[in-house]
Amino acid sequence: MAILVTGGTGYIGSHTVVELLNANYEVIVVDNFSNSNPESLSRIKEISGKDFKFFEVDLLDRGELETVFSNCVIDAVIHFAGLKAVGESVEIPICYYHNNITGTLNLIDLMQKYDVLNMVFSSSATVYGAPKQVPISENFSLNVTNPYGRTKLMIEEILNDVYTSNSNWSIALLRYFNPIGAHESGRIGEDPNGIPNNLMPYITQVAVGKLNELKVFGNDYSTPDGTGVRDYIHVVDLAKGHLKALEKIISSNGVEAYNLGTGKGYSVLEIVQAFEKTTGKKIPYSFGPRRSGDIAECFANPTKAEKDLGWKARRGIKEMCIDSWRWQSQNPIGFQNKNDKNYATTLIR
Ligand code: NAD
Ligand code: UD1
Repeated sequence: MAILVTGGTGYIGSHTVVELLNANYEVIVVDNFSNSNPESLSRIKEISGKDFKFFEVDLLDRGELETVFSNCVIDAVIHFAGLKAVGESVEIPICYYHNNITGTLNLIDLMQKYDVLNMVFSSSATVYGAPKQVPISENFSLNVTNPYGRTKLMIEEILNDVYTSNSNWSIALLRYFNPIGAHESGRIGEDPNGIPNNLMPYITQVAVGKLNELKVFGNDYSTPDGTGVRDYIHVVDLAKGHLKALEKIISSNGVEAYNLGTGKGYSVLEIVQAFEKTTGKKIPYSFGPRRSGDIAECFANPTKAEKDLGWKARRGIKEMCIDSWRWQSQNPIGFQNKNDKNYATTLIR
């Protein structure tokens, strides 16, 4: 079975391609390297010992994307490609809407044209906004607060409409909680541009000496230690969730949303302590004000994915810390020859 993976050289995509190859799927990757590095292609081949097709294509270029569909037999698509920085999306919303929405429209239009009606889509827990309670179930009301989140919710709605128009479609909307960690080989991992926005890459960059100290955004939340609580999930568990979702959509039609999280929340200070304990690296930190837009607590009720997909996160916080650190310490400057062009800014020029 042949799977087209858009955004397959990025953080979650590269880990998912490894799992797909390990499970003997034929894989076709499409990416424009706007937030990734060609080096990840050879690392994926090295880890899996397998080859796959790659097309350097921008989803915004419908003509180029069509050559992939006309040249390859495709059974299903896993759609990761998109821009994902919340703060940047507030600054350049048109670019985010164009890249994420137009790119997805081009993709699903071609899928329909070539009768490829199976899709796994990367959504996000951000679609729940500030939830009324935790843990969060899939039937909670949706309420986005920034352009990035709005692109995710809009795409979910578009995909629902597409299914309503043609019930042969089969779509899984995977709402990720907080992916961290890296492949146990230490060869692929998260490689953020500039100073990281997210907690774990910030911690690993403090540990490796690139940054001086962690600023903890707020210690006055109504949580046990006053710092924000999140549902951190190992990226390899997340990747495996895509294979389970794939099996599901191949065997039945419909459109369904699934939370991919562990169901357990950790505070910022608990993550710092877990990292220090498992790696032996000291993480200096100080408290600062709350980050605008942040919520106190966010963690999943993951039972729907377990019941319907037969998927459950297996890796604990210890492995998440060890694997994040292995990747960072063995690749202190990430994939090295990173393409530093600012794609988002280029798009709006
Ligand atoms: P990433 O930036 O590492 O990967 C995205 C990939 O898509 C990159 O390789 C990028 O070059 C590519 N891409 C972007 N726009 C493209 C375009 N127009 N044409 C072709 N390729 C394009 O991000 P990630 O962390 O791996 O996230 C993957 C998906 O999961 C994204 O859609 C993201 O919004 C979603 N998501 C991520 C997180 C997270 O914390 N990492 C959480 C929830 C949801
Ligand atoms: C971020 C995104 C969200 C996305 C999610 C998963 C923002 C505003 N939100 O959310 O859309 O779905 O990642 O990728 O970017 N923290 C610090 N100091 C730091 C960094 C983070 O204290 O330097 C704290 C935060 O306040 C939060 C926790 O660590 O309590 C996790 O933060 P982060 O990794 O950025 O994830 P989210 O806030 O959940």
